[in-house]
Amino acid sequence: MKKLLISLLFILLSGTIIAGKKASATTNLHDFMEDYTKEAMKHFKKTGDRTYLNRLLPEFPALTIEEQRTDWKKIVDQSIAEGKPEKSCKTCHDLYKKDYKKLYRKREIRIPEKIFGMDEEMRKAGK
Ligand code: HEC
Repeated sequence: MKKLLISLLFILLSGTIIAGKKASATTNLHDFMEDYTKEAMKHFKKTGDRTYLNRLLPEFPALTIEEQRTDWKKIVDQSIAEGKPEKSCKTCHDLYKKDYKKLYRKREIRIPEKIFGMDEEMRKAGK
C-alpha cells in the first residue's frame, strides 16, 4: 500500500513538472528576449563565447509575424556569417523594436523545441 502511494505521488509530481514545462514553452517576445537573448549576450560578454548566440539567432525569424520573417532572417544570417551575432541586436532593434512593442507586445510565441530550456542551461553554466 505504501509503495502504491509513493508511486502515485511520483506520477502526480512528474505530471506537474511536465505540465509546468509545457506552460512555460509559450511566452512573448519581450520575455523571450529577456530570458534567453539577454542571458546569451551576458555569457558572450563575460567569456567571449558566441555559442549560445549562434544557436539562438537562427530561431528568431520563426518568432515574428509573417511579413517580417524574411528581413529578420537576413539580419540574423548576415550577423552570423560575419561571425558577429552580437551585432544583430542593434540592427534589428533599430528597425523593429518600437513597432513590435506597440503592436504585438502581448502576442504569444512558442519557444522552439531546439532551444527550449537553454535559459536554464545558461544559468547553470554560470555565465
Ligand atoms: C531580428 C530581430 C531581433 C534581434 C536580432 C534581436 N532582437 Fe531583441 N528584440 C526584438 C524585438 C522586436 C523586441 C521588442 C519585443 C517586445 O517588447 O514586445 C526586442 C526586445 C529585446 C529586449 C527587451 C527589452 C527591451 O529593450 O525592450 C531585450 C533585453 C533584447 N531584445 C535583447 C536582445 C539582444 C541582447 C540581442 C542580440 C544578441 C537581440 N535582442 C537581438 C527583436 C530582435
